[in-house]
Amino acid sequence: MSAEIERAASLLRAGELVAFPTETVYGLGADARNPAAVAKIFAAKGRPADHPLIVHLPDATHLERWARDIPEAAWVLAKAFWPGPLTLILKRQPDVPDAVTGSQDTVGLRVPNHPLALELLQAFGAGIAAPSANRFGRISPTTADHVREDLGDAVALILDGGPCTVGIESTIIDMSGPRTIVLRPGMLSAIDIGRVLGRVPMSADDPLAPPAVRNTRAPGTLEAHYAPRTPLVLMPDDSLPITLRNAIVQQEHVAVLATFPAPFGHPLIEWHVAPTDPAGFARDLYANLRMLDALGCTRIIVQKPVGQPWQAIHDRLKRAAAGSGGDA
Ligand code: TXA
Ligand code: MG
Repeated sequence: MSAEIERAASLLRAGELVAFPTETVYGLGADARNPAAVAKIFAAKGRPADHPLIVHLPDATHLERWARDIPEAAWVLAKAFWPGPLTLILKRQPDVPDAVTGSQDTVGLRVPNHPLALELLQAFGAGIAAPSANRFGRISPTTADHVREDLGDAVALILDGGPCTVGIESTIIDMSGPRTIVLRPGMLSAIDIGRVLGRVPMSADDPLAPPAVRNTRAPGTLEAHYAPRTPLVLMPDDSLPITLRNAIVQQEHVAVLATFPAPFGHPLIEWHVAPTDPAGFARDLYANLRMLDALGCTRIIVQKPVGQPWQAIHDRLKRAAAGSGGDA
């Protein structure tokens, strides 16, 4: 084990915060059994203290220390997808700190698939509570530099594992009740999960989903989230050229994120070509949004993604659009 991992694990034991890479986004970690350490997460992020955190585990054998009444289907998903970008919401053990669960009767658990995260979890040997390592409501970090920009001195140590490979947050599946429900879509899709379970889980915004699901305190499901400061709009690809011509007439400086090259060039248009495949688009998405946000344009126009494989990306972009343009 490297000296840096050793140091990170002792900082966690001492109740300090350590930011670490996962395959999805960087996490801001604290000892999940230490309420004072967990309180530091909320302070550093500026996040309301009643929002629950995901507990990261070294492997699935730790599940029963955190969750009770674990349904067979949860073991099946853990076996199929851990380590990986899947978070399971299960009934919690009574000794899980309220600071972690937001005083709910459930707890979010996942085993991340990143060599540094796994080394850290194994060295620490217990659960690490970690939300995404960004200020509350802002774009999640996918590089160590993003974490430094957002949180800087608030973190004792930032482990640098290079850019995240998945790029958007884990799929969250609620298995604490009678139905399996997708609370937050991710690159691991409901169809991937359905293939393993033999039935496709219900989406939280399905009209048939239990009303209690809508009341779960999940900031990842808030409308205004993942947001750049520049107003962001989603636009069907065939509307882009006319919109840009109008913007030029108005002397507007606009940024564009699209999967195809600019139909024409103009000094007022900052056109950025994103990967055409959903996995590549998701991997680069948050870094692209940060980069376009930094250009100081009047708007960021993003080509509206369509189709099932783009569902989780569309979800994040919709929230980014809803929350963008504030002066926070
Ligand atoms: O990919 C990820 O999940 C990343 C990396 C670091 O693992 N983490 C992440 O954490 O996105 P965060 O805190 O930014 O989002 C976690 C989401 C929140 O929307 C939170 O409310 C929800 O998980 N969550 C956690 N525990 C929950 C629970 N018991 N019931 C319902 N939602 C829960
Ligand atoms: Mg987050």
